[in-house]
Amino acid sequence: MTETYPPLLFVHGFPLDHEQWRPQLEHFTAWHCLAPDLRGVRGGDPPAAGYSMGVYADDLVAMLDVGGIRRAVCCGLSMGGYVLFELMRRHPERVAGLVLSDTKSEPDTPEGKAGRDALMQVAEREGAAAIVERLLPKLVGPTTRARRPHLVEAVRVMAARLEVPGLVGALRAMRERPDSGPLLEQVRVPTLVVCGSEDEITPAAGMRAMAQRIRGAEYVEVPEAGHLAPLERPEFVNRALEDFLLRASFR
Ligand code: MLT
Repeated sequence: MTETYPPLLFVHGFPLDHEQWRPQLEHFTAWHCLAPDLRGVRGGDPPAAGYSMGVYADDLVAMLDVGGIRRAVCCGLSMGGYVLFELMRRHPERVAGLVLSDTKSEPDTPEGKAGRDALMQVAEREGAAAIVERLLPKLVGPTTRARRPHLVEAVRVMAARLEVPGLVGALRAMRERPDSGPLLEQVRVPTLVVCGSEDEITPAAGMRAMAQRIRGAEYVEVPEAGHLAPLERPEFVNRALEDFLLRASFR
């Protein structure tokens, strides 16, 4: 299987780390999987020119180079999707396929940018735990909150251990990200678009419309899941992803 299928590269959302993909990493054991933490998540020096989607995308390419990997099927959730759009812009030859989960191509609105500024101040003043408390109500869907409270707790723990400078850097990178709308019609690789039916951050209607702009893209809506669909309904998302991988041609 690893001879014929490109590796799977999983890129996490905000404010999360690679653990967000644990259910996928445990399922796709026959595939070669990579799930890095984006720069700054575990501390370290900030990039010389500041955090940006370009920095994250170039880091992914450097990681693929180290592993001798020419192309990967790239799966990104939300901010992970923003990074993949930048990867497509800069290094399209490294992308064999795309899985866009709970993300969007539009840049931040002026209100969105003001919200990022406010969150940066919260992060610097009160730390990572305060950020996640503000975001949690929208990060997971109402069904997960009611029926799977252990997952809400897992997200809280995951987010609270992130390093503040990296969090602030990610907020800045998201704030400054460009409009990726014009890229959608240019995508020429097999693409799966996944969205939780209860996603309030990147709602299903917008994701369905995004899928329609990508040639041949498949769209899957995940029932009873919010913004973190692959974590909230892993069995559903894993099946959809596996079906997609087995059907698609990554030549
Ligand atoms: C994420 O899940 O990565 C964030 O919700 C993205 C965003 O804030 O735009």
